[in-house]
Amino acid sequence: MTSVKNFIRTIPDFPHKGIMFRDVTTLFADPRGFRMAVDQLLQPYAGAQIDVVVGLEARGFILGGAVAHQLSAGFVPIRKKGKLPAATLSEDYTLEYGQATVEVHDDAINAGQTVLIVDDLLATGGTAEAGIKLVERLGGDIVGCAFVVDLPDLGGRARLDALGMNIHALCT
Ligand code: PRP
Ligand code: ADE
Repeated sequence: MTSVKNFIRTIPDFPHKGIMFRDVTTLFADPRGFRMAVDQLLQPYAGAQIDVVVGLEARGFILGGAVAHQLSAGFVPIRKKGKLPAATLSEDYTLEYGQATVEVHDDAINAGQTVLIVDDLLATGGTAEAGIKLVERLGGDIVGCAFVVDLPDLGGRARLDALGMNIHALCT
């Protein structure tokens, strides 16, 4: 039986020496692989009320847009600093291989809206936690966080568990 894992390749030493980069472009490029990933990501939430899917730049946009369409939800991007045109909230964070700032439009989510956060990969959880903070600052009610890949040794799952998040990952 084919699994999403079979479509993901590993590139050693990218973007820095010592990082094993899990490259999902090969999963996205395959018609069966991409459908499998999107269908499996949304499967636990198919009966739930999701108002908004939040995608984390950049690979979370590709998955999150497809998931939002399938759930008939809206889509909200959380972007790297300086990309969003209107007023924003921002959060600084560190990830497996660097530091960054992410932003969301300050009117993108209404208080009480139900939210599903989507990204390709959970490593240290720095990116996801920054996204969670932004959604919570807007008053969004986070139903779950869905990832294609979880790298549990890097601590992200434990970090999001400690925040009380419902986590769904397709492979480790
Ligand atoms: C990658 C990945 C996640 C994040 C996970 O994104 O897509 O968003 O790292 O790492 P963490 O759990 O340690 O925070 P990246 O920052 O490389 O951005 P990109 O998708 O824009 O290339
Ligand atoms: N983001 C953080 N760590 C990563 C990894 N090892 N592969 C792909 N994306 C990542």
